[in-house]
Amino acid sequence: MTTEHGGDVRLTGISKSYGSFTAVHPLDLTVPEGSFFALLGASGCGKTTTLRMIAGLEEPTTGTVVLGDQDVTALPPYKRPVNTVFQSYALFPHLDIFENVAFGLRRRGIRSVKKQVGEMLDLVQLGDLARRKPHQLSGGQQQRVALARALINHPRVLLLDEPLGALDLKLRRQMQLELKRIQTEVGITFVHVTHDQEEAMTMADTVAVMNGGRVEQLGAPADLYEHPRTTFVANFLGTSNLIAGSVTAREGEDLVVAAAGEVLRLPAARCPDGLAPGGRLLVGIRPEKVSLAHAEDAADLPAGRNRVAGTVTATSFIGVSTQYRISGPAGPDLEVYVQNVERDTRLAPGAPVVLHWNPAHAFGLDAAGDGAEAGTGPTEEAA
Ligand SMILES: Nc1ncnc2c1ncn2[C@@H]1O[C@H](COP(=O)(O)OP(=O)(O)OP(=O)(O)O)[C@@H](O)[C@H]1O
Ligand SMILES: [Mg+2]
Repeated sequence: MTTEHGGDVRLTGISKSYGSFTAVHPLDLTVPEGSFFALLGASGCGKTTTLRMIAGLEEPTTGTVVLGDQDVTALPPYKRPVNTVFQSYALFPHLDIFENVAFGLRRRGIRSVKKQVGEMLDLVQLGDLARRKPHQLSGGQQQRVALARALINHPRVLLLDEPLGALDLKLRRQMQLELKRIQTEVGITFVHVTHDQEEAMTMADTVAVMNGGRVEQLGAPADLYEHPRTTFVANFLGTSNLIAGSVTAREGEDLVVAAAGEVLRLPAARCPDGLAPGGRLLVGIRPEKVSLAHAEDAADLPAGRNRVAGTVTATSFIGVSTQYRISGPAGPDLEVYVQNVERDTRLAPGAPVVLHWNPAHAFGLDAAGDGAEAGTGPTEEAA
């Protein structure tokens, strides 16, 4: 079907209040047809509520839900071209896998289901297990049955609410790739709710980061990671070192910033608009983009790098890399991740060090952001 807006999901001014508590503030969101869209955020930020309003399971306080060219705001769930897969798979225990998947077709009075069910089971790679009962399957296999059962109805949109929450880490990773493969193969719009940033980044074309009932930032995973616009996003998606400073000058494409007793540079294009000399900001730099040198070698560092001094307070060796925690004028808990190629054994707790990085890799955030001062933000802990 081709219409002006295709099969997009469009939320306009949609909000949900429970008494005086607002779970979702008025929200405008378009999910392009055929895309894999993730709603990412901490517990209680309003992800499920948003999903339930799309499904029709929750009545919005304000706003409209449009699917394709149809305003479905007033439609009950079963009249919407939408299916939902929840964290608890809720398979029918007394029916075998084949009949679980066939259920939606049979309910619509379709008699010859064999071909369609067979194709669907192949899609989720369970063709061999068609005659087993749900309790004879692993968690990941049950999850795939739930998915097949939803997809066989050919919904225009599939809503997934933490569908992988019950699986162990290894199976989760495997299912993430599996889900992505299936979505690409069937081309249906997926709206996936998760609080796991790695999960959202692995699977989604577009991620909306929610915080306190609002979407803080929306974009492609790499774009969000490289260009976070708020301290929340900078620390919810991975870890960021945030160093408080003030702009002293603009030189060409760069802002020059006084921070931690040093002069730092960063591209003006990677900073909030309208920052002039005197303006305050947080200079952000990701831990893997920082290099570490022992203070004895500081004189040998290449020119043109941003540098700040500190002392190693903790190290953790995690195989592929070593994670260093450093305290200094720039912050009490700076993080640096160093690839495990040639370990400098001098970089032990107590060692004086210099952190240095390419100015092009830094980003700037509004200093009035949510309470972060120097150092890493409040929400993220390195393992
Ligand atoms: N029926 C209700 N009455 C009152 N408050 C509610 C109701 N349903 C949800 N809330 C509140 O709305 C907020 C958002 O809830 P929601 O379930 O959307 O969060 P979530 O982002 O899905 O969280 P989680 O990751 O824990 O599932 C929460 O603070 C929750 O307590
Ligand atoms: Mg939820």
